[in-house]
Formats: sequence, structure tokens, C-alpha cells
Amino acid sequence: MRFVSLDPYHCPQLPPRSLDGAAGLTMSRLEVTTPGALPDEGRSESSLRPSRLDEFVGQDQVKTSLQIAIDAARGRGDALDHTLFFGPPGLGKTTLAMLMAKELGVQYRTSSGPALERPGDLVGLLTGLEPRDILFIDEIHRLRPTLEEFLYPAMEDFRVDVRIADGPNAQTIPMTLEHFTLVGATTRFGQLTPPMRARFGLVERLSFYPPEDLERIVHRSAAILHIAIEPAGAVEIARRSRGTPRVANRLLRRVRDFAEVRAEGRITAAVADEALARLNVDEFGLDDMDTRILATIIEKFGGGPVGLATVAAAVGEDAGTVEEVYEPYLLQQGFLDRTPRGRVATAQAYRRLGITPPAGQGSIFDT
Ligand SMILES: Nc1ncnc2c1ncn2[C@@H]1O[C@H](COP(=O)(O)OP(=O)(O)OP(=O)(O)O)[C@@H](O)[C@H]1O
Ligand SMILES: [Mg+2]
Repeated sequence: MRFVSLDPYHCPQLPPRSLDGAAGLTMSRLEVTTPGALPDEGRSESSLRPSRLDEFVGQDQVKTSLQIAIDAARGRGDALDHTLFFGPPGLGKTTLAMLMAKELGVQYRTSSGPALERPGDLVGLLTGLEPRDILFIDEIHRLRPTLEEFLYPAMEDFRVDVRIADGPNAQTIPMTLEHFTLVGATTRFGQLTPPMRARFGLVERLSFYPPEDLERIVHRSAAILHIAIEPAGAVEIARRSRGTPRVANRLLRRVRDFAEVRAEGRITAAVADEALARLNVDEFGLDDMDTRILATIIEKFGGGPVGLATVAAAVGEDAGTVEEVYEPYLLQQGFLDRTPRGRVATAQAYRRLGITPPAGQGSIFDT
């Protein structure tokens, strides 16, 4: 398989932020969720990417439906159905798109919603595709409406109408495309337009990983990076990784640094525990910003309900980042609840901050 990257990997334009902490070990959430935040780690992230579907740990339902679709498409000698992956950052959407191309033995081309500006940008990409190739569009919810409309006939009928002049001499020439597979990825499923969603034959949601899966990922990455780690050290890293492989890999590298300086390079439970405490990652995997969001809702807004924009402004973070990066895990872990009137801190969030929940809070949210 040839990998052809037409754009450098696009990173969301999020403001850099770093949290203070001990010994220069502290990292921001953006570092752990944004692939391009640290160029060196970006390179080693690619060395940790599974290169075969059976090396991809967990997400069994997603893997099974992909495998069935891949086998069926192979059997028919046809392109795979257009596929959409959605879920929080760092759970493996890009990795799965690459693995699909590998499994199918076809070219993998990549771009992203915000990088595509004009239909012309898409024409080049689409007409360069060979039969059954995969075109991966990251952050597909950020595709401009004109480009989205341009993509519809490409996805449905494998043709595009190319405009070759403007004004009174405007002409459109229909062009036929090879049968390709569009793989879209998004962290914001709700922002995808209904007609776009409807054009994907396979829609797969990636969920947070249970600690056992993250443990396997930590062991696998440690083996690749030649890091000596004890099983209890891996347990410690896994349970504080916010259910996210990218976070697990980042924490592993940071704990390795600490182990090299303080513990002759061996990651034991105690070494992992101390290093993670220095990174301000608590026993639930919550970091400073998670804690600030919960504390703000409880202390400034009486536990909620409070609107997303208000919470984001109060913690000094972009609303999209709060919604995409922080909230999914807080919701999944039962620290936060989304109601029609806004965000509400649960009884568990009060307890996490050492505050007694108000009467009635426990009965509603603590089941
Ligand atoms: N199931 C898995 N098994 C092993 N490693 C994984 C798995 N999923 C993800 N990873 C690791 O986590 C890293 C991040 O995954 P990936 O880049 O695919 O996430 P993503 O969902 O595309 O994130 P984003 O939304 O930020 O683009 C990968 O480089 C890979 O090393
Ligand atoms: Mg990605």
C-alpha cells in the first residue's frame, strides 16, 4: 500500500495552554489530545499506531463490523461503503481509517474539513483516486457547505460536476470517478448535516476504552519503545488514562522519563503513582482542567444547570474544546450531566471535590 498525504495532518486550532505543576512534568490536556502539539511525540505516536486490524486493541463491535464489511467488499471486488467514525479525540479514528486501507491493500489519501477550501481542492483529490482507494477526511463536520454539496454526487454516483469558467461563459463538465471509499472522522457527530450523515453506509462510534484494554495498549507500547514496566505499573497508567489510548501512550512516555531519572528506568506501581501525581493526573484520570470545570459549576453556579458557554468563559477555555475534549469523559464517568437547561454537577462530582452534595442531588443523579 502507498500512503499519500496531501495535507499535513490537521490539528484543531486550539490555543496553547499549559498547567502549572511540579518538576516540569506537567502537561496540558491539549498535549494529550492534539496529535501535532509536540512534533517529536507526533513521530513516535506513528510508531505506536497498530499496523494491522488485529493489533488494534478493544472496540470489538466496531472491529467486527469493519471486518465483515471489508471481507464482503473484497469478495465482491468492489469499494467498501463510505464509513464515518465518530467519538472523542485519541480513540483511534485515524488509525482505523489507515488500517482499512491496509486491509484492503489500497491507497490511503488524507485531507481534512478545514484544509479544503474550494471545490477545486476536492477535484484533484477525487480524480486522483484509483478503484477502491480510501479518501480520509478528518474533521468532516468542518467541511464548507459548498464542498459538502460537491461531495454528495461523488459519494452517491461517483461523479462530480466541474465548473470550468465563471460568469456568462460558465460551463460545467461532468467527470466520472472511480469507485472509492470516503472515510470521515469527527469528534462532533451532532454538527454533521443530516444529508451528509445519510450518505455513509457504515457509521461507527468509538467509545472510551475500559482499563483492561488500556493496560494491553500500555504493554504493547512499552514493548515497542523498549520500556521496562511491571504489570502493576501498567495498571496504574491505564486507569488514569481517561479511557483514551493517546493519553495512555503520552502518560507512558512521561512516566518513563520520570523512571529514567529517579528509578533506573523501571516503571513500578509506585514510580507510576508518583510520576502521575506530579503530572496532576488524579486517580480517576481527571486533570486540572477537568477539576476546574467541576469546581466552577459547583462553586460559582450552585451545581448548575449552567450553559456551556458560561462554563467555558468562567474556566477561560474555548467552548468547543470544553465540549469536545473535556465533557465526554466527565459525562461518561458520571461527574457531569447534560440537561435541557444546561450542565449539572452530579453528587459524585461534589464528593470528588470533598464537598457534601446538596439534599436531593444524590437521589437524582446517584444511581
Ligand atoms: N485500539 C487501539 N489500540 C492501540 N493503540 C491505539 C488504539 N487506538 C488508538 N491507539 C493509539 O492512539 C493514538 C491516537 O489514535 P488516533 O490518532 O487514531 O485517534 P483519533 O481518534 O484519530 O484522534 P483525533 O480525534 O484527535 O484525530 C494512535 O497513534 C495509536 O498509537
Ligand atoms: Mg485523528
